[in-house]
Amino acid sequence: MASQFNPRSTTIPRYTASTLIPVEEKLCVLVVDDNTHLVEFIVSLLKESCKVLTAFDGLSGLSFAREYSPDLIIVDVIMPGLDGFELLREIRADAAIHTVPIIILSGDASEDARLEALRNGADDFLIKPFKPKELIARIHSHVRMVRLRRAAFERESELLRTIGEVQQDLQALLEGTNDAFMTLSHELYVITHNQAAGQLVNTLYPSMSGRSLLEVAPGLAGGELVTALLQCMKQNVVVTLEYQNTTLSRWYGLRCYPTRHGLTVFGADITEQKLAELALLTAHSELEARVTQRTLELRQVNDLLTAVFDNAPSGIAILDSRGRFIQTNTAYCRLLGKAKEDLIGHTFKRFTDVESWACFERSLQQLADEKQPAFDTEMPIRLTGRKENWVSAFVSLIHNGNDAEMYFVKIAQDITARKRAEEKIATSQRELRALYHRLESVREEERVSLAREVHDQLGQLLSAAKIDIKLLEDDAQRCTPKLSRNEVASELRSARLTLDKAISSVRAIATELRPPELEDHGIYGAIELYAKQFTERTGIETYTFVNSNEAQPRGPAAIALFRIFQEAMSNIQKHSIAGAVHVYLLRRGNSHLLRVADDGIGITAERALGTTSLGLRGMRERAAIARGKLLIRKIRPHGTLVAVRIPIHIEND
Ligand SMILES: Nc1ncnc2c1ncn2[C@@H]1O[C@H](COP(=O)(O)OP(=O)(O)OP(=O)(O)O)[C@@H](O)[C@H]1O
Ligand SMILES: [Mg+2]
Repeated sequence: MASQFNPRSTTIPRYTASTLIPVEEKLCVLVVDDNTHLVEFIVSLLKESCKVLTAFDGLSGLSFAREYSPDLIIVDVIMPGLDGFELLREIRADAAIHTVPIIILSGDASEDARLEALRNGADDFLIKPFKPKELIARIHSHVRMVRLRRAAFERESELLRTIGEVQQDLQALLEGTNDAFMTLSHELYVITHNQAAGQLVNTLYPSMSGRSLLEVAPGLAGGELVTALLQCMKQNVVVTLEYQNTTLSRWYGLRCYPTRHGLTVFGADITEQKLAELALLTAHSELEARVTQRTLELRQVNDLLTAVFDNAPSGIAILDSRGRFIQTNTAYCRLLGKAKEDLIGHTFKRFTDVESWACFERSLQQLADEKQPAFDTEMPIRLTGRKENWVSAFVSLIHNGNDAEMYFVKIAQDITARKRAEEKIATSQRELRALYHRLESVREEERVSLAREVHDQLGQLLSAAKIDIKLLEDDAQRCTPKLSRNEVASELRSARLTLDKAISSVRAIATELRPPELEDHGIYGAIELYAKQFTERTGIETYTFVNSNEAQPRGPAAIALFRIFQEAMSNIQKHSIAGAVHVYLLRRGNSHLLRVADDGIGITAERALGTTSLGLRGMRERAAIARGKLLIRKIRPHGTLVAVRIPIHIEND
């Protein structure tokens, strides 16, 4: 039978606190009761398995409880000083010991007493007198609970310590990085975060944990970060964004992962990368701006150069290394009478003769071999439907940046006019030389003819007259002249007639040298007289039309007109086989106009232009000296026309 505790029959062993300090491994049980027998009895029950502390009033019990933190407390209700319920409340109010299991011993078996004990925090309620076995069983039950709790506590402590260490490691890891990290609840309360996360949201709070994100960083409200966080949770997707903290001028690459509790945010500091990107962008846009500007300048320069190139008065062509046209300007196209498209890709070969092209090609090769820096040339060019033209060309070599590409620049000018002028000068020099020789020979011929005339005619006549006079002189010197008076008179008449002939011979010679009719009657009379004698001499009918009412040409104009007339008449006599000649001498405006037209075989075009025969050339020269113009041509249906126009003012020169 289980013994029941009886306080009166129990001897009381007195324990002090110092002697009852529990050793390790054993539970420590504090018994607080003013009934020493009962205390003694409990001690005897427990001492084998526990270390037992005893206290005999409430205050001591509280003091021991605080000092030794027992594993179990057994408390009487009614005690002096501090009763059992008050002690219970004190212990439960003390954070250091509030978890200790407490068994209330009470003499009051009522339900109220039990409820009050439990309300005040008792773990168990035992009514006195109690059965020792029950007490021990309850104590052991609580002790088991305590042990389990302690083991659980130790395990929990261990786990908490481990968690704490892991958290510390994690925190150290998170704090050691520049990247931001934070976990948030669905309501955007910060659960954990590192320091970089504080910088990310630019908060003034040293710790954000347990606070609303919008409380610690009100500036985020309505912004892209909060929008991204909400989107992440709402759509349960990973959201990434680049976020700039404008206050700190830092950039973060954010990745928001939805979690069971809300979301986790990782923010990599990409400021350096962003700055590099920005610098790159700035450099790129600056470069683009510079390229645009340079392109514009280049285009302007190019336009200018093209305008200069196209409007240059000289023909400019750019040739490739094989002499083919790459580019030509307007003046050059005009020079060759071709459109640019017809020239590009072709050479100059088809525009000149074989010899000139071969020479040009040789010069190009010498330029390419850099034996000379440039060359000048003059070439004839053949243009369809035109006479031969001439161009001068200055050709130089240029390299386009690297040695591989070479071009020739040809600057050409039309020198046809100059060439023709040079040819004219050469021709007129040849003509002048020929004329000079002809004048010399004519002068010589005239001298010979004059000498012959003087010798043959005048000399004989004068000799005959001299003989007649000598006869008379000899006869007169005789003592008795043989000749009668009549014979002398006859001889003198003969001498006179001979002298008359000599005088007309002198006149004829003088007339040949200078037509006296010109002096006596002017050119109108001289032409009419010459025409009359011409008809008598040649049988060719001559019709003259001179306007004798007008002032006739005088001075050099008259001489030029008369000599041209004489040569024209002489040619008609020699070459025309004409039956009639019409001669006109009129005034036309400020000029005198002479026309001599025959009806003969007609002069050929070649002869009319020819410069080799001297008669026509003499006519031309006389007209040119008198600043007039001469025309010789065949006329229809047959015959030849010689026309000369001489300005009036030449008379006064
Ligand atoms: N009226 C004409 N009718 C036909 N042919 C003419 C006539 N006048 C000139 N000619 C031709 O023109 C040529 C040149 O004439 P030009 O007077 O220059 O020389 P030329 O009379 O032969 O010699 P030169 O006058 O020097 O004594 C002549 O040879 C002749 O063939
Ligand atoms: Mg002649």
